[in-house]
Amino acid sequence: MGSCRVRFEPYGLEAVVPCGTTVLEAARRAGLRIASSCGGRGSCGDCAVRVLAGEPAAVRPAEGRAARVPQGMTLACLAEVADGLVVRPVRPASAKNA
Ligand code: FES
Repeated sequence: MGSCRVRFEPYGLEAVVPCGTTVLEAARRAGLRIASSCGGRGSCGDCAVRVLAGEPAAVRPAEGRAARVPQGMTLACLAEVADGLVVRPVRPASAKNA
């Protein structure tokens, strides 16, 4: 499994993580906290991100209200990064060093 670079806009933060890491975990490693009230179980929908470039390598199915994710968005806790993926959190996220 290689390394994948993922970028978070509009924060300009990047992480290089093992491919297959979730977007939520990659955001943490980039120093960005994305809302995730269900703890990454795919049920709250808080972690929705808009996909600006690339495609997630895989997306696990969501549950409950989180299952209705609009087109062009994905849940960060269920999506695995692919190299070159660029996403923007739907809810404001906090960057550690901002
Ligand atoms: S953290 Fe709750 S759906 Fe992703």
